[in-house]
Amino acid sequence: MKFIIKKIESSGKDWVLEIVRTWGADFIVSRGRKIYPAEIDGFYAEADNGEKVGLVTYEIIRDQCEIVTLDAFRKFSGIGSSLLTKVVSEAKLRSCKRVWLITLNDNLDAIRFYQKRGMTIAAVHINALEESRKIKPVIAKIGQYGIPLRDEIEFETML
Ligand SMILES: CC(C)(COP(=O)(O)OP(=O)(O)OC[C@H]1O[C@@H](n2cnc3c(N)ncnc32)[C@H](O)[C@@H]1OP(=O)(O)O)[C@@H](O)C(=O)NCCC(=O)NCCS
Repeated sequence: MKFIIKKIESSGKDWVLEIVRTWGADFIVSRGRKIYPAEIDGFYAEADNGEKVGLVTYEIIRDQCEIVTLDAFRKFSGIGSSLLTKVVSEAKLRSCKRVWLITLNDNLDAIRFYQKRGMTIAAVHINALEESRKIKPVIAKIGQYGIPLRDEIEFETML
């Protein structure tokens, strides 16, 4: 599938919000902090037919760039890789020293995906989801493959 990567402009924020709300709230929780993906920077992948087929949102704080969400709505077509590459380039342009992100312990596809794209595990925050659920009670107890959802895994790439 052919697609191009574009920046999320203010007109695209409602679409981002629509997606985020399918996860149960307007925000996600990362390291005990609420982050509102529709209020931060992002890129999306647009297919030939105009359909939006992927989304990445990120937040740059000082010289650290956190990838807050990354989703390919058509998997295995290179969309996730392209969006990840785009954020890393943007982080370099904006003089960041590190790109990092949180994924959860059940997300085996993502854990494989990030490691194969040069990211390394910087930390495992054991039982972090217990704190996250205090902020966002809709976070499930059981994740993919029936794995108990417990830990945040922090990935990083140094630039
Ligand atoms: C993680 C994610 C963004 C990857 O996006 P993607 O567009 O599918 O990724 P790509 O197409 O660039 O690469 C997919 C990989 O799957 C492989 N693949 C292809 N067909 C496959 C199949 N049928 N089954 C499993 N893997 C397959 C590709 O070869 C590639 O593998 P590689 O890592 O060995 O190179 C996507 O799976 C996703 O949206 N997941 C749900 C949301 C999520 O968990 N996001 C991460 C949160 S931190």
